[in-house]
Amino acid sequence: MIVIGGSTSRDLAKELAMILECKCILASSTRFPDGECYTRIEGESLNDDVVIVQNTYPDQSIIEMLLIQDAAKRMGAKSITLVIPYFGYARQDRIFKPGEPESAKVMAKHLDLACDRVITVDIHKEDVLKNFKCPTKDLKASGAIAEFFMDKGIDIVLAPDAGAAERAKDVGNRMGLPHDHLEKIRLSGTEVKIAPANMDCDGKNVLIVDDIIATGGTILAATIQLKQAGAKSVSVACTHGVFTGDAIRRLTGNNIDVLLCCNTLESEVSNISVASTVADELKRTKKKRLLRKS
Ligand code: R5P
Repeated sequence: MIVIGGSTSRDLAKELAMILECKCILASSTRFPDGECYTRIEGESLNDDVVIVQNTYPDQSIIEMLLIQDAAKRMGAKSITLVIPYFGYARQDRIFKPGEPESAKVMAKHLDLACDRVITVDIHKEDVLKNFKCPTKDLKASGAIAEFFMDKGIDIVLAPDAGAAERAKDVGNRMGLPHDHLEKIRLSGTEVKIAPANMDCDGKNVLIVDDIIATGGTILAATIQLKQAGAKSVSVACTHGVFTGDAIRRLTGNNIDVLLCCNTLESEVSNISVASTVADELKRTKKKRLLRKS
């Protein structure tokens, strides 16, 4: 197996190859004077199963991915597995207004042209993967997040809304801790507050988990409410730290005691690694393939 790291995911690719004890090639990536992407996989031929690690975010990464796929195919890759740690456009998974494209489907259709398998991590909507013809697997970052926070004195794991409740449940169960989600509670005809649906956070060390932090608005609103409700500390962990604008600064300067995310998107706070989770899946599929052959 050979791991090829695209420009969005070089550190993760290196870590993955280290765990899998296989060769890692970092595809070079530069821009022509007109801004077009130039990428190259160093070497003569691949002649092995190839794993390309690259996000489909930001936009230019999509072009880079397509070009790396083509180069890998031309260099004789026996099979191509795409590891897409952060699948951009997964939030545009359906047509909300007439005249819109089905963006997630467009991504899948083009990536599908040169790959045998796709692995994502906490894709925003799993249904997006149904647009691929090849086999797909969405991995969960809950295990990596739970492991990271295991001995950090957390009392409760919370989701910022009911939609993310399953994730909080998964992390909470792995840590042997209670879990809950935040919801709007109507106090009177005119008053509404955001609070945990079932638990009291007074004096507790809370861990909020979410899949994406973009502007940080969701997490900030939740944290302010929790602190007002008496939470002793609020730690925040998400899978994908998109962090638009100065979101990291805004969040760390505002009631949040610890802010961390996974290394699906590299940033100054992406200290939780999903490399083992991805490596386990690659080992599992390799074993399955070998068994099928024997
Ligand atoms: C929503 O469905 C997601 O799970 C996140 O809660 C949301 O994308 C976060 O966005 P923001 O940081 O901009 O509030």
